[in-house]
Amino acid sequence: MPPSYADRLLTWFDDHGRKHLPWQQPRTPYRVWVSEIMLQQTQVTVVVDYFTRFMTRFPSVESLASAQVDDVLSLWAGLGYYARGRNLHKAAQVLCEQHAGKLPADLAGLEALPGIGRSTAGAIVSMGFDQPAPILDGNVKRVLARHAGIDGWPGRSAVARQLWALAEDRLPSGRFADYSQASMDLGATVCTRHAPACHACPLNADCVAHRSHRTHELPAPKPK
Ligand code: ADE
Repeated sequence: MPPSYADRLLTWFDDHGRKHLPWQQPRTPYRVWVSEIMLQQTQVTVVVDYFTRFMTRFPSVESLASAQVDDVLSLWAGLGYYARGRNLHKAAQVLCEQHAGKLPADLAGLEALPGIGRSTAGAIVSMGFDQPAPILDGNVKRVLARHAGIDGWPGRSAVARQLWALAEDRLPSGRFADYSQASMDLGATVCTRHAPACHACPLNADCVAHRSHRTHELPAPKPK
């Protein structure tokens, strides 16, 4: 048997993945949560400094919950999308009131918190707790749509359903944190939107888009 999708991705990650981002050392559920919220609409290079300042000021769920919302938002200044900062603060208060200041380790418990959707919940379960859960952010959608040759715009619910099913089916049997990080890193650095480096991709041998010269067509853009 040739190595599985997950095994090839994990081997690639060992050599080429990002392992020194500030939220990876140490990797705790709280730090993964805050970083994922910051990364939802902001690039990694910008987030690094904001994340480091935020952790210095608010090193724990409790410190964040007991802060004034304006103090949270003043650290957010420059990141934009202030609803993210407000939701983070609100969720920290819910965690202190209902979960003893701990993040839940399950998808449903996480998705019940303000600002946490399905993919962010998967990121926290997998990277914060090293437990199996799929993620499906923009990078991962692109990798999966190309590899499996999924046609259609991922914003359509039928297409999204297929992508979530694939993401679930391809989970490894261990190393869940590394696998989620590897999936995002491959999309960000190799399987890029406009100029994918297929020659450097560990998944090229059975990638439908690569083999049929359709990387530029997949994933399909939003219909006009
Ligand atoms: N984008 C969202 N989450 C990320 C992560 N953990 N590392 C790099 N980019 C990301």
